[in-house]
Amino acid sequence: MDENMPKHVAIIMDGNGRWATMRGKKRSEGHLEGSKTLKKLALHILKKGVKILSVFAFSTENFKRSDEEVEYLMNLLVEYFKKELKLFNKYNIKVLISGRREKLREDVLEAIDKIQKETQNNDGGILNICLNYGGQEEIIDASKKIANDYKNGKLKLEELDKESFSKYLYNDLEPIDLLIRTSGELRISNFMLFQLAYSELYFTNTYFPDFKEKEFDIALEDYQKRIRRFGGV
Ligand code: FPP
Repeated sequence: MDENMPKHVAIIMDGNGRWATMRGKKRSEGHLEGSKTLKKLALHILKKGVKILSVFAFSTENFKRSDEEVEYLMNLLVEYFKKELKLFNKYNIKVLISGRREKLREDVLEAIDKIQKETQNNDGGILNICLNYGGQEEIIDASKKIANDYKNGKLKLEELDKESFSKYLYNDLEPIDLLIRTSGELRISNFMLFQLAYSELYFTNTYFPDFKEKEFDIALEDYQKRIRRFGGV
């Protein structure tokens, strides 16, 4: 295994709307193009030896967008899960969904249950799709589960540490090594706050639909030149 390869890469896929507006297209066309970029990018990244790719597909706050845009994104996700199931199985990719179930439509819940069930035995890499996701919400939801287990005598407080806390998150994933955000915004935007603790950050002005394999390789090269200290010297 390549020691220099990040185990867990995360991407805030930003700029779909601006990509479309710049071309005189509807925002929805930007999301469609973004979904095509993600498909190719995910295969490329996992093929390179990255074990986990986490992507921000829809935040808890994204429900504030117009009904039309929310509906388009939900339909796109359902379509994507149905259409790409074969591909994920062909490439042995396990799909995980992280986020709150509440507020999601019945057909979206069915689609996410199906894709997770039918890819659960794949072990060639993980695509973790954050959907109706917020980082603070994830920590709050984990804390509630912890309080419950404590109350029911299933957990002793002395046992709680970074590793055991992580088991209460939506999915128990390794820390993020490299976070990429596209479109020139320099924010974390409530994304995977627990897992990002010591992540290296990479920002690019490229809008997500244009963030292709070659540009990922440039980000990877940049990451591989960095010296990670984890608070040490
Ligand atoms: C941010 O761009 C992007 C989103 C809110 C949605 C991300 C979704 C995709 C890339 C496609 C669907 C995903 C899957 C898994 C099929 P923005 O709309 O905020 O762009 P803007 O900042 O330019 O307006």
